[in-house]
Formats: sequence, C-alpha cells, structure tokens
Amino acid sequence: MKPIRVFLKERSYDIHVTDSFNNLPNLLTKFQFHKFGIVISHGCILTRFGKQLIAPLKQSGWDIHTITVPESEKSKSLDMAKYLYKQISGISQMRNPVIFAFGGGVVGDLAGFVAATYRRGVEYIQIPTTLLAQVDSSIGGKVGVDLSFGKNLIGAFYQPLLVLDNTTLLKTLPKRQIQSGMSEVIKYGVISDRKLFQFIENNLQDCLNLESNVAQFIVERCCRIKAKVVSKDEKDSTGIRVILNFGHTLGHALEAATGYKKFTHGEAISVGMAFACRLSTNLGVLKQAESNRIVKLLEKVHLPIAVKGVSRRDVMKAMSLDKKFIAGKSRWVLPIMIGKAIVKEELPQKAILSALEHHIFS
Ligand code: GLY
Repeated sequence: MKPIRVFLKERSYDIHVTDSFNNLPNLLTKFQFHKFGIVISHGCILTRFGKQLIAPLKQSGWDIHTITVPESEKSKSLDMAKYLYKQISGISQMRNPVIFAFGGGVVGDLAGFVAATYRRGVEYIQIPTTLLAQVDSSIGGKVGVDLSFGKNLIGAFYQPLLVLDNTTLLKTLPKRQIQSGMSEVIKYGVISDRKLFQFIENNLQDCLNLESNVAQFIVERCCRIKAKVVSKDEKDSTGIRVILNFGHTLGHALEAATGYKKFTHGEAISVGMAFACRLSTNLGVLKQAESNRIVKLLEKVHLPIAVKGVSRRDVMKAMSLDKKFIAGKSRWVLPIMIGKAIVKEELPQKAILSALEHHIFS
C-alpha cells in the first residue's frame, strides 16, 4: 500500500499501513543514522510480538536493546521518563539511539516525550500496537506525560521519523480495546468520511474482527484523515486540528471526573460523541435521523452513550478546568451531517446542562 504522507516541510514523514515488519529495515535505510535502536514497550507486547519486530532489524545489522514499562496510564509520568533517561544513558554510552515506541497510546506518548527531550531530541519511530494508537495517537507528534492534577500537561509537538501500522497485531487485541479503538474510527467517519461510516455500518462484524483486509482499509482511511488534518495544523493552533476532538470535550471531562479508571478513552469519547450529537440536534444543526444513526452505530459496537454512577457536577467542574487550558474557552465539535462537522466556541450553559441530563446519571 502506498504510504500516507504527513506534510510538514522538513519534518514530513510517512505512515505505512502494512501487515509485517519485514520491510522496516529497508524503510530506515534512507535515514543516515547509526543502526543503534532502543525499543520502549510493555513486557507482554515484547513477549508476543518482539521477535517479529526485532529479528528483521538485527538481520540488517541493527544493534537493538529493549526497555519495558508497566502497562498503565501511570507510566506516563515524569518519574518514568527519568527512569527511561537513566536506562537509555546506561545502554547508549553517549551514542544517540533511535527510539522505537512499540505499544499503545501510553508507550507512544511517553517514548515520544523521552525522544523529544533526551539529549535535546533523538529520532524516534512510532510502531503502534492498538487500534486507537494506529489510527490516532501515533500520528501528529503530540507527545507527553501526565501530572497528578492533569493529563498531558507536560509535553511537546515532536514528530516521528515514520509511523508503521502493522494491522496483523490488532487481531489479538482484547474486545474492550477493539471497541475503544472503533470509537475513534467512528469519530473519523462522522467528522470527515461518510463512506467510512457507511462501510462500518454495513460490515460491522468484519470491522470488529479486524480481519486483515478490513483492518487495513479502516486504518488507512483514518490515517489519511489524520495526516491531512495534521498537515494543515501541526500545532493545533489554527482551529483545524481541533476537529479531531469530536466527543472529547465531554469525553476528557468524564475520564478526569472518574480518575481515568472507570472508562477507556474510547468509551469516554463515545459518550461525548452521543452528547455532541444531541447538542447538535438541539441547536438545529444536525438532523435527528443522522444523530440516531451515529448513536445506533456506537450502541452496536457496545460502546456507552450514557453513564451511571458519575456526578454531573464533577463532570462540569472537569470541563471548566479543561476550558482554562484552552484559552478560557470551551470548544465543541458539532456534526452537521455524517461526514462533516463544525467547531463552536462557548455554547450556552443551559444547552449543555439540558443535554448532559440525558448522558450522565448519578
Ligand atoms: N488526538 C487529537 C490530536 O492528535 O490532535
């Protein structure tokens, strides 16, 4: 499959959607660096897929080392970054390694952050292993770690040299992770790709099984959208990239209000998308029938569209905190039809509260 280009002048790079790692050494030959790499991953991922990734690299003369981190959002911390700096220094002996971020969103964000900051920046490669990371978090260079009082508060825009999505890894993902990833895939359909949305509606079971052809089709389709958006607004500064945050204003608040424990990111944004659809229909910008289709698809994937046992007040508080971090304004991505969305700032509090009543129950 032809690579998908992210156009960022001298920081441009390709996303390769493929079914093996065998061609990776070949893809790396155009970069003139020493063949010295450190794979940052989780132990279980290395056990399952490490050999597939590392053997072809070793065969082409790469000196490869591995470092593992625990499989938890807690790994996205400054303490863990410090641990990695120390490990990398010990292995590298002043050589600059190429970092391979081999895992889901946590590994991608953490390893990317370490690559951005170790010795003022070393090259890194994103090799995402979850659906969510393949279609979203590995692309676009948002790297970072969390602080105790907020997610992604320390970070950078630091682009990888390339992204390699091996879709065969997705087949063994736990069901909940596939559903969570599908939430982001549906997001892309709603904001920008009606055909993708229809494809998921018509081939839902195949999409959830992530069989090779279908997985490649949906991953490629989403990566094309993300690449196009990031190419237009790398630093999230012109209001274009914010479209990727459909469902995220409420989704992030829901995650924060529940301590990042109760819901996966995909589940939280599913509630957020259903909520944003309701807001859109209430504001008269989205037809009820279109909203129903979106909500129905989320339900068919067994994603939540409303949650119990969560305080509405906590969610509102988390949303107002989030607002502070985006120049004092809350931003809402509202679908106007399946395949097209707009961004609105500062919706009336009354509209938000009345829609929230249908999605958050204590
Ligand atoms: N996941 C949203 C973004 O990359 O901007």
